[in-house]
Amino acid sequence: KHTIYITRHGQSEYNLVGKLGGNPPLTEAGKEYARRLAKFAEENVCKDDAGNVRRARLWTSSLQRTILTAEHIPHPIVCDGWQQMATRVYRNLDEIFAGECEGLTYAEIEKLHGSEASLRKMDKIGYRYPRGESYFDLIARLDPLVHELESYEEPVMVISHQAVMRILYSYLVGIDRERAPKLEIPLHTVVKITYDAYNECGFTEERFYLGP
Ligand code: F6P
Repeated sequence: KHTIYITRHGQSEYNLVGKLGGNPPLTEAGKEYARRLAKFAEENVCKDDAGNVRRARLWTSSLQRTILTAEHIPHPIVCDGWQQMATRVYRNLDEIFAGECEGLTYAEIEKLHGSEASLRKMDKIGYRYPRGESYFDLIARLDPLVHELESYEEPVMVISHQAVMRILYSYLVGIDRERAPKLEIPLHTVVKITYDAYNECGFTEERFYLGP
């Protein structure tokens, strides 16, 4: 049985005002999610079903909102010569780069770059932001990571971003990538995917809303 936990970062200052991208810090609610996520990781990811401590992996993007979300997770603890959660920071897990639209709200994009907004509506997966990325670009840079993710025996927790999680989640549960850019990926929720050969579809999915 292989288990992967994926979550978005805690609420950021930009989430609060609807701005895209950037490198904002967490709000108070986001910081509270970070504390709750650490407790969740300690009790679930770092322990097996019998309650024994086990080794696990923790991946974040290089943006501070995911690193701060991982802040309280007990990754420096050494266990059997291993860090309890071996941590890695991947730029490939960074949020879709909106280029000239970084830091804008959707309403501002409509106003300042109206034609860009309608191009994106017509083809969300293929649309590339001016000097930025498309969902297809994201799929290409996540491809090596999903193969690595699947190669581990120990559980992995991935803390990333909305667009990245849409692609990772769709890949892991077999959703057609054309549908991925429109999936709802809520904040403050951990999605647990357990590969299980005895299950008809090959995996089970559980969701944990941790609030606040
Ligand atoms: O609004 C949060 C966010 O993560 C932005 O940084 C990013 O541009 C956006 O979501 C991606 O979602 P969508 O592709 O639906 O615009």
